[in-house]
Amino acid sequence: MSWSRQLAGSAALALALAATVAGACGDDGGSGAPTEVNPAPEGKPWATLAEWGIFADAATQTPNARVVRYDVMSPLFSDYAWKHRFLWVPEGKTVGYTATGPWELPVGAIVVKTFALPVDARDPSKGEQLLETRLLVHESGGWAAHTYVYAAGDPDPAHAKRTVAGAIRAVSWVDEDGATRTNDYTVPNTNECTDCHGTAPNTHLLGVRSRQLNHDAMYDGVSENQIDRVGEVLGFASAPPPAAERPTMPDPFGDAPLVDRARAYLDANCAHCHSAEGAVNQKALFFDWEHSDPASATPLDIGICKVPTSAGGATCERIYDIVPGAPDESILMCRVESDEPKVIMPPLGRRLVHDEGAALLREWIAAMPADDCH
Ligand code: HEC
Ligand code: HEC
Repeated sequence: MSWSRQLAGSAALALALAATVAGACGDDGGSGAPTEVNPAPEGKPWATLAEWGIFADAATQTPNARVVRYDVMSPLFSDYAWKHRFLWVPEGKTVGYTATGPWELPVGAIVVKTFALPVDARDPSKGEQLLETRLLVHESGGWAAHTYVYAAGDPDPAHAKRTVAGAIRAVSWVDEDGATRTNDYTVPNTNECTDCHGTAPNTHLLGVRSRQLNHDAMYDGVSENQIDRVGEVLGFASAPPPAAERPTMPDPFGDAPLVDRARAYLDANCAHCHSAEGAVNQKALFFDWEHSDPASATPLDIGICKVPTSAGGATCERIYDIVPGAPDESILMCRVESDEPKVIMPPLGRRLVHDEGAALLREWIAAMPADDCH
């Protein structure tokens, strides 16, 4: 078992090396696609994904040299899409490590996130249906946001075209319970990117943070800390502390204490709007990891016994955002469990209810010491 994995690993390494060698000649054997990252001129994004030269093989999401794959500990829920994330900075530039907050990436940096659905979530070997690849490109005036939409059943990045107006794609897949699911998967229009990532020139990265990246992943068949990997391949401006001294956040569906799992979920799924830097900071509802620490949190800040600040939002005829011990009296639960446009939270980025996420928040509220808020 471990033998064959090692063999597979070294075969992959050999392929990667071959790709690097080919890359040196700037030729991939005739298709014309660049074999290393090929940034577009500022303000003139390429029309197709292939021109960026991010992938050696888009079908398997195998990146070109110096493009570092990473994943986040607590992902944003996007209608059960699987994601592939990558980071690149131009040769000669480095990454600015920060303990909290998004990392400081240099002008020229590109961060990539591909959305895909499994054919069958129980068996990854059956492959994926690629939906879109999103890019955030650091230009001198701030981050530019683009998305490239794959044609159904066609992983060729030469056919994945930049789409500004968004798109809807009817999809189906088999979920982890073996049930066939369907959805109108929605590619956002590029104005909507700023609703979560901030409006230019204050557009920012959301997941490229130490607490999201500080864990191991497999690289060339070997397990390695993702932040160390970034240091090796791209380099940091100044060395971060060792892994054990960097911030972390637990897997919301792992085995950490319930409160911390709920906090990690809220941080990734809600805090880009509900935080001091977020688009709805005037609501004074703060779901970022720092604000939700029970050792220091002000209960009202995370919605406990909080009456919504405006009559505009849906309340489901409930009074408080969170009633400790009573999920069914909490506005938060009905909004998270809804798929109706006026009620749904988050209001963007999903159409389906995240059953597992809603169950986690339900469990979190139910476990709070009961308080009727009077
Ligand atoms: C509903 C909110 C939301 C919308 C809308 C959204 N994003 Fe994001 N995006 C996130 C969150 C949260 C993360 C970090 C968590 C993760 O990677 O799962 C993220 C991560 C990313 C990343 C990886 C770098 C980073 O910031 O961590 C890229 C690239 C990206 N988004 C591009 C886009 C583009 C381009 C659009 C518009 C086409 C867009 N996003 C729309 C919430 C959103
Ligand atoms: C894309 C931005 C965005 C994201 C992400 C988001 N929200 Fe909201 N939220 C809003 C806006 C805008 C309002 C105010 C309008 C309304 O109530 O519909 C709001 C209001 C609320 C309210 C009522 C707040 C009050 O006190 O007035 C609750 C509760 C809430 N959101 C919970 C959540 C939860 C839980 C998540 C994550 C699962 C989440 N939201 C993610 C934008 C967002």
